[in-house]
Amino acid sequence: MIEVEGVSKSFGETEALVGVDLFVPAGTVQGLLGPNGAGKTTLVRILATLLAPDAGHARISGVDVGQDPNSVRSLIGLAGQYAAVDETLTGRENLVMVGRLYRLSPAVAKARAEESLERLGLVEAADRPVKTYSGGMRRRLDLGASLVGRPRVLILDEPTTGLDPRTRLDMWGFIRDLVEQGTTVLLTTQYLEEADQLADHIVVIDRGRVIASGTSDELKARLGSDLIEVEVSAAELDATAAVLSDVGCDKPTIDPARSRITIPVCDPVPDLMAALRALDLAGITPSDLGIRRPSLDDVFLSLTGRTTEEEDAAPAPKRRRSRQAAGSRA
Ligand SMILES: Nc1ncnc2c1ncn2[C@@H]1O[C@H](COP(=O)(O)OP(=O)(O)OP(=O)(O)O)[C@@H](O)[C@H]1O
Ligand SMILES: [Mg+2]
Repeated sequence: MIEVEGVSKSFGETEALVGVDLFVPAGTVQGLLGPNGAGKTTLVRILATLLAPDAGHARISGVDVGQDPNSVRSLIGLAGQYAAVDETLTGRENLVMVGRLYRLSPAVAKARAEESLERLGLVEAADRPVKTYSGGMRRRLDLGASLVGRPRVLILDEPTTGLDPRTRLDMWGFIRDLVEQGTTVLLTTQYLEEADQLADHIVVIDRGRVIASGTSDELKARLGSDLIEVEVSAAELDATAAVLSDVGCDKPTIDPARSRITIPVCDPVPDLMAALRALDLAGITPSDLGIRRPSLDDVFLSLTGRTTEEEDAAPAPKRRRSRQAAGSRA
């Protein structure tokens, strides 16, 4: 349903996309995972016919985005990274207006608006101007607007960045419902967990290049295992590492800066219980202890040998800093 072949795009010196390939079968969710400035929005804009690639081809349902942008626009719905709703209109008016832009009759536009409002839990707020909406309500309205044209392909650019956990779960629910009804979804995100929850297939991009792709399980297998993390006093670090040397599937790593020990585990529950027993026997009581999944930072560390924080801090003469800090929305 979505085909991207060898797509490149530069802005002056900045290579935003370099030979990107992506193939999304109908009725599936493709996750596009990458840090700030990776090139996610650039690819979204190319697929949405808003930007022409310098090289390569992009097709939606077999239609080339450059050759027949109008047909492509009738196939896709787009919820951009920055909510594109009119502040002075009410939620309902915004949705009806979008329907009219799709050339729906007034009656159909009204009915579709109502359907979107109900689906996204915005009925009560429907007649308030959007300028009174919270960030989460705006995101939902934006998603609603992208659904008014009943698109076969939905493109969502960081649909949940900056949303609270509850609203994020709601969003995931909406997206799952749409996929169940046959919509094909391309979703960009900075969160491994989100791609994990929603995507059938994930492509990781960094500095405009695809650096890994696969199912979430395949990516995680490449990343390695979950980690047990134990925080103890600085004086106890070495003794704790010795006590835990037989736990997990690899040697403990000592992080003196954070006064922590991490151990890769293959069998989380028995390994955690073994760690507790060993600590108890040695009379060591950690100030913190838990299991964590690999994070996007771990993905990047393992795939590129650097963390997303280093990435942000490093001087990058060929790249502009993104307008947006990780995890926050203006
Ligand atoms: N119109 C433009 N003019 C100049 N540079 C641009 C333009 N659009 C994007 N870029 C640059 O291209 C690179 C990729 O940007 P893009 O917006 O696609 O990243 P992103 O993955 O969406 O990042 P974020 O997670 O911050 O939204 C960045 O270095 C960005 O500064
Ligand atoms: Mg972006």
